Amino acid sequence: MWKKIKDWIELRIGLDELVRTQLREYRVPKNINIFYTLGFVAVVAYVIQALTGFFLLVYYVPQSEHAFRSVQDIMTKVPYGWLFRQMHVVGSNLMVIVLILHLLAVLFMGSYKKPRELTWTSGGLMLATVFLFCLSGFLLPWSQLSYWATTIVTTMPTAFPYVGDFVANILRGGDYISGSTLNRFFALHVALLPPILVTLIGFHLFLIRRIGISSSPFGEAIEEAEPWVGYRHEQYQGQPFFPHFFLKEIFMCMVYFVVMFFFITFMPTFFVPDDANIQADPLRTPTHIRPEWYFLAPYQMLKLIPNKFLGISVQVIFVTVFLLWPFIDTKEKKNILKRPFLLGVILCCLALWTVLTIWGRY
Ligand code: HEM
Repeated sequence: MWKKIKDWIELRIGLDELVRTQLREYRVPKNINIFYTLGFVAVVAYVIQALTGFFLLVYYVPQSEHAFRSVQDIMTKVPYGWLFRQMHVVGSNLMVIVLILHLLAVLFMGSYKKPRELTWTSGGLMLATVFLFCLSGFLLPWSQLSYWATTIVTTMPTAFPYVGDFVANILRGGDYISGSTLNRFFALHVALLPPILVTLIGFHLFLIRRIGISSSPFGEAIEEAEPWVGYRHEQYQGQPFFPHFFLKEIFMCMVYFVVMFFFITFMPTFFVPDDANIQADPLRTPTHIRPEWYFLAPYQMLKLIPNKFLGISVQVIFVTVFLLWPFIDTKEKKNILKRPFLLGVILCCLALWTVLTIWGRY
């Protein structure tokens, strides 16, 4: 009976062939390290966000009069509601951290170079989409924290002359954060951003399968020996992706869950502080208001540069250079240790980002 079902499926879908070509015969370079698993961890992190988000959606009420109460009910009355909410909140922060680490790994390994330019740019667009996810999701609990943090972030575009106020008004659905903003952000969060991110992930993964994973410039040289001539990853003698490398990816996903449950168990208020448990009150500004940690650096930069237009222009230039980086850095040399100037610039940018983030926090 089982064989009959298997044959029926095999004839129509060719599952065995798919598993053979896509898993067992698929090869990855021998010298890739644990940092090459972070993209997979990001995929898993997004799946967790989508699943926990779905469960939250069952009880969440997207109206400003009821949103706060519904989230409190999820935390206190719905069976395991607290767990799904904590997984979603902690997961959103961890996903940003995983993406930053993935991006740094790709940057330091020089994996964005020809022919992987579009892999990088699609990754950059995914990072921007994830930030939009975080921005829109943060307002949904309609707490003091979410209301005022969103007020700050949505004020940032107003530094742009002419179009700034228009963009901010479109985002907020008015001059300030209101029930209309909540409706807009809810629609963005659950209806528009998920298909955009899924499409981008599909494109990113397609490119990775099409071109193959790059070999590491550190350790045993593989690709460096001869110039890149075409799509030859199918032929080269790497290690099997399945189960060898796949097990490493699963191990890193376990580490991800350990970190997530560490926060949920031992530091449950780290990402859900006191202000997150007070209903939004547009008439009462809290003493310390600041955006989420990943928006602190641009926020602090805007505060420090007296000319707002200059401040926002610097950031737009930075984002453009970031997205187009593989088209700007076209040198073939992948090993960043052999390029001290570039290494210095990248380390300076990282130090600046860290200092601005800490400064913005305190
Ligand atoms: C939701 C976001 C993302 C997901 C799900 C994702 C997923 C993946 C996966 C599964 C891989 C395969 C190998 C690996 O893990 O290194 C990969 C590789 C890659 N990713 Fe991402 N990624 C994301 C964001 C980014 C970002 C933000 C960048 C950079 C701006 C980026 C650039 C790249 C590049 C260039 C590679 C090719 C690496 C190589 O061939 O060695 N990705 N990504």
